[in-house]
Amino acid sequence: MSEDRTIGVILDGVPSRCAEGLPLTSLLAARAPGWRASPRAGAPRGMFCGMGLCFECMVEVDGRPARACLETAREGMKIRTATGPGAGS
Ligand code: FES
Repeated sequence: MSEDRTIGVILDGVPSRCAEGLPLTSLLAARAPGWRASPRAGAPRGMFCGMGLCFECMVEVDGRPARACLETAREGMKIRTATGPGAGS
């Protein structure tokens, strides 16, 4: 039996805790205002295809562009969304 491990990440500059290995899309849907599932044209980014094809879920992870639907949470990860504080700066 495995135990869930809680880890620390930085989401849009704010420290946050979550389960290690949590899909990034789940973390963002719960804690990133403006980030949503199934975005519509003109809406802020979010998850659409959920399998790495559409690029609608693009975020920045540790300074590099990443598709949130292909990432899982790991200790110390720095995630920046296009809708979070400081977006566009
Ligand atoms: S939701 Fe389509 S690439 Fe991530």
